[in-house]
Amino acid sequence: MASDSLEGVLRKDFFWGYATAATQVEGGWNADGKGVSIWDKFAHTSGKVKDGSTPDEAVLSYYQYKSDVALLKQYGVTGYRFSLSWSRIIPLGGANDPINEAGLQYYSNLVDELLANGITPFVTLFHWDTPQALEDRYGGMLDMKSYIPDFVNYARVCFERLGDRVKNWITYNEPGVYTLAGYAAGVHAPARSSNRNLNENGDSSTEPFIVGHTELVSHAYAVQLYREKFQETQKGSIGITLHGNWSEPWDEDDPLDQEAAERAREFEIAWYGDPVYKTGDYPASMRAQLGDRLPKFTAEESKLVLGSSDFYGMNSYTSFYIRHLETPPHIDDHSGNVEKLDTNKQGVSRGPESDTYWLRTSPWGFRKLLNWIWKRYGVPIYITENGTTAKGETAPTEEVLNDQFRIEFFEGYINALTTAVKEDGVDIRSYFAWTFTDNWEWAAGYSDRFGVTYVDFESKEKKRYPKRSAFVIKDLFGKYIA
Ligand code: NOJ
Repeated sequence: MASDSLEGVLRKDFFWGYATAATQVEGGWNADGKGVSIWDKFAHTSGKVKDGSTPDEAVLSYYQYKSDVALLKQYGVTGYRFSLSWSRIIPLGGANDPINEAGLQYYSNLVDELLANGITPFVTLFHWDTPQALEDRYGGMLDMKSYIPDFVNYARVCFERLGDRVKNWITYNEPGVYTLAGYAAGVHAPARSSNRNLNENGDSSTEPFIVGHTELVSHAYAVQLYREKFQETQKGSIGITLHGNWSEPWDEDDPLDQEAAERAREFEIAWYGDPVYKTGDYPASMRAQLGDRLPKFTAEESKLVLGSSDFYGMNSYTSFYIRHLETPPHIDDHSGNVEKLDTNKQGVSRGPESDTYWLRTSPWGFRKLLNWIWKRYGVPIYITENGTTAKGETAPTEEVLNDQFRIEFFEGYINALTTAVKEDGVDIRSYFAWTFTDNWEWAAGYSDRFGVTYVDFESKEKKRYPKRSAFVIKDLFGKYIA
């Protein structure tokens, strides 16, 4: 329920809308000269994706962007966050490789269409889809020295060709998820270190941190380029988006649980957040546990990375309870040696009878997280993703389109964010719900539906059916924005 006391609390220039990612929505995976990304390869390898599906077609937004923008307009959004596919723009990825004009044209058209409809584009350069050619050439992000010039060149092309109209840039989306899922768990592309086969598939005790370092330093070089060559004329802002869920001590009176919860937040969020916003270095808790497995910043890198984001891009979905462990950390631990428990174990808050990750609704944790980030980093927060799946959405029935669970999720979280602005003074500038339409949910394929629009994946044109949550969100922001 929209609470009356929150009316008009959000700034007039607050942006709200939906976020998407190229691989998850575009389709046209090899259309008009697009190169292969690591996700194309991953999905085309049997056994990698839960339902055996590929993103070859996804929701065909590459072909249907005009009607999609019309639908976004109907939903009343003021912003739309999407990502560029590097291999669509530079099929082989490298600084000396050719540009694919047709790919760039697609993004240019999309930007124009959004602007013509009064919708502000927020553009992510990297949402996990590294060009496969770079992976083959030198191992992608594992080789920082080779990778940086290629990433910075790609960023330059995007600023040059789209920056006259795009004023909100995000370099990386959830760098921590890319590293941990792709290089530790091995369940995402490029699927290294699967099952902790340390020597066979790579060294999961070290690789995620090497890749994380590459992301941070290459992000900072791209930002440096933007600030030096483009920002003054193009007048945009640039930053990074980090993932993070709230970690709550299991026993709030136990100092060891409190410490463990803070350590969990540091391993998850401050891993990237402290270098960028606070110290130019990794948190002491990570250094203490990981020692030399955590790369060291050179003085030059540290200087470059610190302050390299105009805002804090925040993706968050749920909360966990954290309990301390008595045992020493395993070499493959990436979470600060803690036990993570579902927030539905204590009867505090949850969705109806569900305990899967996405269905745990904890808006109270969202407000705490916003406060934690604001206190620790003190920069404006752009919420760049937040959303949920729901159970049993397998056909566009009346019940599914009247998606009560998702509606309650959004009411709770949007209420929490507005309360954080009003009661706690947190500076929040945007909210992008995940997501606009059901789409290809990475290794989960088409089975996890996050959209406020139902998609019939069986139909040739991937027919869209609006769910009621889309209009509830519209009404909430209609009330909360001044
Ligand atoms: C975060 C990722 O950025 C996005 O790609 C993904 O689909 C959502 N979480 C839901 O899993």
